Amino acid sequence: MALPDSTLITHIGELVTNDDGEGAFAARTDAALVIAEGQVAWTGPASRAPAADAMVDAGGRAVLPGFVDSHAHLVFAGERSAEFAARMAGRPYQAGGILTTVAATRAATDDALRANLARLAAEMARQGTTTLECKSGYGLTVADEARGLALAAEVTPEVTYLGAHVVPPEFKADPDGYVDLVRGPMLAACAPHARWIDVFCETGAFGAEAAAAILAAGRAAGLGARIHANQLGPGPGIRVAAEAGAASADHCTYLTGADVDALVSARVVATLLPGAEFGTRHPYPDARRLLDAGATVALATDCNPGSSYTSSMPFCIALAVRDMGMTTQEAVWSATAGGAAALRRPDVGHLGVGARADLILLDAPSHVYLAYRPGVPQIAAVWQEGRLVAGSVT
Ligand code: NIG
Ligand code: FE
Repeated sequence: MALPDSTLITHIGELVTNDDGEGAFAARTDAALVIAEGQVAWTGPASRAPAADAMVDAGGRAVLPGFVDSHAHLVFAGERSAEFAARMAGRPYQAGGILTTVAATRAATDDALRANLARLAAEMARQGTTTLECKSGYGLTVADEARGLALAAEVTPEVTYLGAHVVPPEFKADPDGYVDLVRGPMLAACAPHARWIDVFCETGAFGAEAAAAILAAGRAAGLGARIHANQLGPGPGIRVAAEAGAASADHCTYLTGADVDALVSARVVATLLPGAEFGTRHPYPDARRLLDAGATVALATDCNPGSSYTSSMPFCIALAVRDMGMTTQEAVWSATAGGAAALRRPDVGHLGVGARADLILLDAPSHVYLAYRPGVPQIAAVWQEGRLVAGSVT
């Protein structure tokens, strides 16, 4: 008997489910999947597919879980293409560029910020992202951070308070005063809008002591911890993440052996952001080393106007396979189930029965094509909670 309001997707050449219970890539060929009430209701061989109210013929193409982009900075105004061009001509990346975006963001209207956010979220959806995380961090006043988070909450529940992005100019002479603001009144205004707290722990941004104090205050206010760590050089960020019980440490570009051990033993997800290394000419993080040590690795875009202005998870997968030592299976797992682990979201990143019906129909027979054909639009259709949100099924 047909399930109510159900859709059968059949003749799937490769169905990536990530549901083997081992926390690894899993897929089956010649498969079918049924969506009902916004969830995955059934998966199995196409020859045994049950009837449903509607049918989509995948024609041998691949179906994957929607991408989980667990790290993005989408609340901003302006752009910094001149900085990018200068870096490509040999100038180094400087975290101080963040302040250019802070000035533009403070000057922007709510509607201008909302429109830019909606444009980027739609761009992500067209490229297969069905869960996105979004940080504040370009406001850096109580009112501007709270505004950024309220806007982010209009597009995702995965909202992250990043008041500790850099010290703003008005606190240049009193950085400790800014840390007190971030973990005091600014946190009080921001916590109701956010699920997570993040700190940019790096030379030129926030040191270990400040980062630990800010994350502890966030946790006491009910937020989960995440951190920008070891992006531009070695540093204490990974240790701070492990001690704070952070869900994820992001960037992980410059790691010592002790850092790798700390990520594994504290079960902190290592979120790698190769768009940032592409955009800053830093070396790519060594995913192979992390995987071989037993770390859980996520891939995300870091979409922001400075270091990594890409919203494309397929681009990140291609970089991870080409330059970071990941197999195609590992990269796809990290861009789906890995991101879900980084956000502590058991309902997304896989297509086991009961998962949220977030899925991608690829215009190709297997997941390998995401890296094999870099830069080529191959996302034919995207469903979020069972609703077609991008592309078409014809
Ligand atoms: O993740 N590292 C800190 N924040 C961003 C860069 C932001 C910017 O340059 O505007 C990042 O790379
Ligand atoms: Fe970032």
